[in-house]
Amino acid sequence: MRSVLAVSLFGLAGLTFASPLQSHSERSEVPSGFVTTNGTSFQLDGEPFAFVGTNSFWLPLLTSEDDVHMTLETMAAAGVEVVRTWGFNAINASELEFATSTNLTYYQVWNSSGWTLNEGPQGLQRLDYVVSAAAMHDIRLIITFTNNWVGYGGADLYVNWLAGAGATHDTFFTDPTIISSYQQYVQTIVNRYKDSPTVFAWELMNEARCTSDLLASSAACHPGSGTLGLWYQQQSDYVRSLDPYHMITTGGEGEFYWAQPDEYWYNGTLVSDYNFNGEAGEDFEWTLGLPNIDFGVYHMYPQTWYPELDYPGSNFSVEEWGLDWIEAHALTAQMVGKPIVIEEFGATGLDNKTAIYPAWVQRTLDTNHAGIMWWQWGQLNLTEDGGNQAFKYTDAIVNGASPNDGFTVYTNQTSVFDVFT
Ligand SMILES: *[C@@H]1O[C@H](CO)[C@@H](O)[C@H](O)[C@H]1NC(C)=O
Ligand SMILES: *[C@@H]1O[C@H](CO)[C@@H](O)[C@H](O)[C@H]1NC(C)=O
Ligand SMILES: *[C@@H]1O[C@H](CO)[C@@H](O)[C@H](O)[C@H]1NC(C)=O
Ligand SMILES: *[C@@H]1O[C@H](CO)[C@@H](O)[C@H](O)[C@H]1NC(C)=O
Ligand SMILES: *[C@@H]1O[C@H](CO)[C@@H](O)[C@H](O)[C@H]1NC(C)=O
Ligand SMILES: *[C@@H]1O[C@H](CO)[C@@H](O)[C@H](O)[C@H]1NC(C)=O
Ligand SMILES: *[C@@H]1O[C@H](CO)[C@@H](O)[C@H](O)[C@H]1NC(C)=O
Ligand SMILES: *[C@@H]1O[C@H](CO)[C@@H](O)[C@H](O)[C@H]1NC(C)=O
Ligand SMILES: *[C@@H]1O[C@H](CO)[C@@H](O)[C@H](O)[C@H]1NC(C)=O
Repeated sequence: MRSVLAVSLFGLAGLTFASPLQSHSERSEVPSGFVTTNGTSFQLDGEPFAFVGTNSFWLPLLTSEDDVHMTLETMAAAGVEVVRTWGFNAINASELEFATSTNLTYYQVWNSSGWTLNEGPQGLQRLDYVVSAAAMHDIRLIITFTNNWVGYGGADLYVNWLAGAGATHDTFFTDPTIISSYQQYVQTIVNRYKDSPTVFAWELMNEARCTSDLLASSAACHPGSGTLGLWYQQQSDYVRSLDPYHMITTGGEGEFYWAQPDEYWYNGTLVSDYNFNGEAGEDFEWTLGLPNIDFGVYHMYPQTWYPELDYPGSNFSVEEWGLDWIEAHALTAQMVGKPIVIEEFGATGLDNKTAIYPAWVQRTLDTNHAGIMWWQWGQLNLTEDGGNQAFKYTDAIVNGASPNDGFTVYTNQTSVFDVFT
């Protein structure tokens, strides 16, 4: 989930495949217990593996191991088999005192000399615990290396400290010093867990785009520039060089770069659709063809992306837009011959979720999705600090309930929760 954004609306016309699709090489035979791919399916120890999963970025932020354990136990009892969490947590050195005094999790501390790794009890030992507790409950993890957005110390910290004031966000994808610093961190994480079957997949970045919520893009990152695609290629090859067995995916939102992007009606005018015209920087089809991108992921927040849907004047609805977005990705994955996972999706409001999610979930099943992961898991009865703990930004445990960003589905919201279980 990104923080805020204003993008344009939609319209799904004909699917046109603008980019050549590459065939992918088969990975070497994986050790037992590792999930791998077989065509458009996942496979575990020779058997097909399809899953219901969820997102919980805050698991490594918990300071109570009992709370981590209870959360994963509740997830497992609900049938969740894959959980996506952040493998990054970076702060500025100026925040160190705040972090120490609030017991905040941090893995990297930045200053003008670069970043320093924190392997201590407030550092990677917390991620270690999440990995080992997940293993106890037979849950696998998608671990993401950095964020496009400011949350929990993303790409813009690399840009700020290594490229300096005035550098644009897309410098992250092209500057050799930044790439090498990112790879150094990636290597730390991959080497730490590369023998663990609990890692479902490595993920290069959450929601990579030419712009972030802090920094603009340069003119060089434009539709057709391939800036993100080449970065995905370089980084997936790099991760594969460190780890021959675990699957690798992008973490992208799944925007298309179509020769004839869809248009939609906005306030009486037909406008080109951001999600199909390449403006974000992604080219979902081209990227999915990369040899070391093992499966496709995409995200879906039509209500947030298109505030005009369901309003007077719109000729479409949040639910319908989502159904078409699901189909477009399933079709691409079918053509490329790799599995597809809807990795994040959400609508706000319990009534909206209850009304819309059954149709979205059904469409993923009808289109042979290999995995479905809602954003985000809501845990009740957390005990840390008596059930009230502020993390960062607006994230907090309130009366034992995990962070609520409006998309959270708590276990007691059975009208929605039962859709997944
Ligand atoms: C891939 O799946 C097919 C169909 O289920 C199966 O026949 C084949 O043995 C699988 N390939 C491998 C390498 O397991
Ligand atoms: C900080 O977190 C650790 C777990 O990482 C916990 O054992 C410790 O009690 C916490 N300290 C405080 C002051 O809450
Ligand atoms: C880190 O420090 C830089 C430079 O002072 C600042 O621009 C940036 O906003 C800070 N980032 C965070 C996440 O605090
Ligand atoms: C940056 O952090 C490192 C490691 O903590 C420290 O050795 C160095 O003195 C710091 N540099 C500056 C300019 O603060
Ligand atoms: C909405 O309008 C666009 C532009 O005319 C059109 O392409 C699309 O098919 C329409 N959608 C529906 C559901 O009528
Ligand atoms: C919609 O179009 C009308 C007429 O052109 C204009 O006055 C109005 O500002 C537009 N509203 C928005 C939200 O773009
Ligand atoms: C439900 O969806 C509608 C239409 O997208 C939106 O206007 C409304 O704010 C949503 N309700 C909540 C509680 O978020
Ligand atoms: C969890 O908390 C709710 C209220 O927030 C309470 O009704 C319920 O009994 C608690 N469950 C457990 C297992 O403690
Ligand atoms: C779920 O539990 C929370 C926390 O106890 C409570 O505030 C909320 O009303 C409950 N929701 C439902 C639908 O029962």
